Amino acid sequence: MPDQTKLDRVLVIELVRVTEAAAVAASLFVGRGNEKDADAAAVEAMREALNTLQIEGTVVIGEGERDEAPMLYIGEKVGRGNGPKIDIALDPLEGTTITAKGGPNALAVVAFAENGCLLNAPDTYMEKIAVGPGFEPGIVDLDRRISENVEAVAKAKNIKPQEVMVCVLDRPRHADMIADLRAMGAAIKLIPDGDVAGAMETAMPDTGVDLYVGTGGAPEGVLAAAALRCLGGQFQGRLVFRNDDERARAAKWGITDLERKYDIKELASGDVIFAATGVTDGSLLRGVKRSKYGGYATHSVVMRSSTRTIRWVETDHIPA
Ligand code: FBP
Repeated sequence: MPDQTKLDRVLVIELVRVTEAAAVAASLFVGRGNEKDADAAAVEAMREALNTLQIEGTVVIGEGERDEAPMLYIGEKVGRGNGPKIDIALDPLEGTTITAKGGPNALAVVAFAENGCLLNAPDTYMEKIAVGPGFEPGIVDLDRRISENVEAVAKAKNIKPQEVMVCVLDRPRHADMIADLRAMGAAIKLIPDGDVAGAMETAMPDTGVDLYVGTGGAPEGVLAAAALRCLGGQFQGRLVFRNDDERARAAKWGITDLERKYDIKELASGDVIFAATGVTDGSLLRGVKRSKYGGYATHSVVMRSSTRTIRWVETDHIPA
């Protein structure tokens, strides 16, 4: 019997409407060189969709702090206020540059969790490591050398380390790690942006990605952890602070141990629902297209951790 204290299953389908709305709005800006307007369109559409839901929602991972984000800021209340208390992590447009350039793997993403179950991460960087399902717990660890992590994954998969494919954000800060991976002969999938998708790829065998590793946004880390909870994968994150301002932000969110390594359940615990809709074509989802019926066609995935359901949703949004 489903546990009634967990999130209402109806929210699974409600949530996909939210990411669909944001993705359709952002799709009008694909390839138009305008990151800001693409993001603003996605934010507005997502907020409008969230505000139709019968929830008492609080944005805990959002567009930024109240003074810097007019909508979907951290702490903003969303929903009609007449339903369950839900904590929300969102990124209406994960891959603003990708969208502006018409590149692959831009997504609209949202995670719902029970009240108090998502890490209130400051908008800093996070070191991340992720693998898909089917491994012994602790198979990879941020404190091990990259070569040790690759060897552990290879051993568990009964393949050679050279056959392991590692997904890494293409950034100068990863030069040493990339050199180590090259030295051991592992394959690297270098992505220009979009590490929520990068981490999720480890749980999608068709992508060929075995391991995700590297430093990206902390909010995206919480979203990736939420997705991997639903997919049965593993994820570790550690916040990275570049200056005193960022350290002060952490203190504001009650984070005192700045070196702490967070396990997946410390980032996203309890029952979690995660939804993503493709804005542009990618390894996980197709982007928004014109529908053959008129209007738009979207492709989404919506998943729930407590029931381990993964639903792939194709929707035609036909003008009424
Ligand atoms: P945006 O959609 O906010 O532009 O984020 C894209 C992204 O690539 C994330 O997926 C990733 O976590 C982060 O930016 C990396 O940050 P940076 O571009 O500063 O290296």
